[in-house]
Amino acid sequence: MRVLVGGGSGFVGRTLTQLLRSRGHEVTLVSRRPGKDRISWDELSRLGLPPCEGAINLSGENVLNPFRRWNESFCQKVIASRVETTKTLAKAIAEAENPPHVWILVTGVGYYRPSRTIEYTEDSPGGDFDFFSRLVTRWEAAAKVPGNATRQVVVRSGVVLGRDGGAIAQMLWPFRLGLGGPIASGLQPFPWIHVADLTGILAHALENGSVNKVLNGVAPSAVTTTNGDFAQAMGSVLRRPAFLPLPSFVVSAIFGPERSVMLLEGQRVVPKRTLESNYRFAFPDLTSALQDILA
Ligand SMILES: NC(=O)c1ccc[n+]([C@@H]2O[C@H](COP(=O)([O-])OP(=O)(O)OC[C@H]3O[C@@H](n4cnc5c(N)ncnc54)[C@H](OP(=O)(O)O)[C@@H]3O)[C@@H](O)[C@H]2O)c1
Repeated sequence: MRVLVGGGSGFVGRTLTQLLRSRGHEVTLVSRRPGKDRISWDELSRLGLPPCEGAINLSGENVLNPFRRWNESFCQKVIASRVETTKTLAKAIAEAENPPHVWILVTGVGYYRPSRTIEYTEDSPGGDFDFFSRLVTRWEAAAKVPGNATRQVVVRSGVVLGRDGGAIAQMLWPFRLGLGGPIASGLQPFPWIHVADLTGILAHALENGSVNKVLNGVAPSAVTTTNGDFAQAMGSVLRRPAFLPLPSFVVSAIFGPERSVMLLEGQRVVPKRTLESNYRFAFPDLTSALQDILA
């Protein structure tokens, strides 16, 4: 299959590209930067969709960049990098003479309201209570393509764990130095997924004609994982103490109150439709996932 991947140069995209090529697919990226096997967003808008059987969008400005202040211009960038790129791909798909068979968008579990007790499946309500939930609603709405020519899938991802980026890359050094620990009380849910499984779900959705609509992209055991469990597992796999809590006021001071919700609160998410679609997780539990990543 020829697959077009928006934002495929990033943390998830690099693993996905490798996986898709190893399964015999051809991958072209849509990127802001020129390069081999890439087209630009402007080319996509001007020239339309290049021939492809599958399209995926992974574009998005890194929300938890600690060096960026959470102000109006950064918020706009966070929104536009997701909603506008998704709109551009959806429009190109809708206007293509030969539309792809499948179109997949990765959004986030921020769609569901943080809670320590409620368990969310793909059918649970959400999407209308704070900045991130409303962003997911707009993002997913931007992906809609009229008609049935193209199968449409949305994967709502939890925190992606992998060696070369995301949360682990940001936290590894404090943990290696024995300065790691839970964030605030550590009791908040920690919806996580190994990058091999998120990309595995994307390949599964690409290759299986029966997969459609929303899939939750979290590990099966993530529904009971707390931030404290994550800190403890990191400490144990790295053989370092991991008891030093990061106080909530420090998190709020670095990220601002709106953004720190992502770290201070969390959702208990079940990958119900993902499992029902017969996806088999390579890393269903946290210790095996961290052993693989930190080995
Ligand atoms: N990582 C996680 O824990 C996580 C959790 C839930 C959801 N997600 C979502 O999954 C997707 C992939 O995540 P990721 O961690 O792989 O992301 P990433 O590495 O931070 O970024 C992915 C790509 O987005 C493009 N991009 C960045 N800023 C942009 C901007 N301002 N305008 C247009 N494009 C921009 C870049 O591609 P070019 O430089 O080639 O243009 C980048 O390589 C994102 O949409 C993210 O929101 C990630």
